[in-house]
Amino acid sequence: MSGFAARGVVKRFTRGAETVTALAGVDLAVGGGQFMALVGPSGSGKSTLLAVLCGWEAPDEGTLEPPVDADQGWSDLALVPQALGLVADLSLLDNVLLPARLRERRFTPTDVPGDPVPLAHRLMADFGLEHLADRYPHQASLGEQQRVAVARALVLRPGLLLADEPTAHQDRDHADVLLDALRDAALDGTAVLLATHDEVAWSRADRVVSMRDGRLTDGAPA
Ligand SMILES: Nc1ncnc2c1ncn2[C@@H]1O[C@H](COP(=O)(O)OP(=O)(O)O)[C@@H](O)[C@H]1O
Ligand SMILES: [Mg+2]
Repeated sequence: MSGFAARGVVKRFTRGAETVTALAGVDLAVGGGQFMALVGPSGSGKSTLLAVLCGWEAPDEGTLEPPVDADQGWSDLALVPQALGLVADLSLLDNVLLPARLRERRFTPTDVPGDPVPLAHRLMADFGLEHLADRYPHQASLGEQQRVAVARALVLRPGLLLADEPTAHQDRDHADVLLDALRDAALDGTAVLLATHDEVAWSRADRVVSMRDGRLTDGAPA
């Protein structure tokens, strides 16, 4: 898979008598190797767009390319959810390796390409987490947990990576390390879409798109 696209995507949520149009006709294409930043105020629809792109929410109108596929693994599409989604009873290292462990269950062992363990250790070292490998999520800070979630997303070198505010809990130095890692993934061919408020992230991206009231425009907000 090289990149992905959304065409004319509309998503509405109904709350009682009120209908919120979270996405009001979104067109977006992110190519393999492209690092794109998605910016916009809170409530503008960024997380909803990521949820539609990854198949958590079905669009009311519009199409996705490639179509959402229940057989996709994290080597096809990896996520850094805003709420992180670490598994509480796995160590931080085992959380990073979880996509690889799940993949092993889907293939006969000889079919598993590459060994993810060295990459998991390298990512943890790059992210300042190596000494925390055996800890559990509740024994780590929120920033450390967020770096684990980014390492987990990178461990299978995914074709597409969707990250929702992945530097929100980081200081500047750690944010830069994470942005470098996402940048490197794009240089390796991953299509990266990063929802972010971090203006430094915008300057690292190949392209910036702005979301307001469920609509996208090119470039950073005025
Ligand atoms: N599951 C949901 N049910 C109802 N409304 C939702 C739901 N998810 C998002 N919304 C609404 O859709 C709009 C866009 O939200 P969201 O995509 O989370 O914005 P952002 O990520 O840019 O802050 C907001 O008005 C939000 O309240
Ligand atoms: Mg959001």
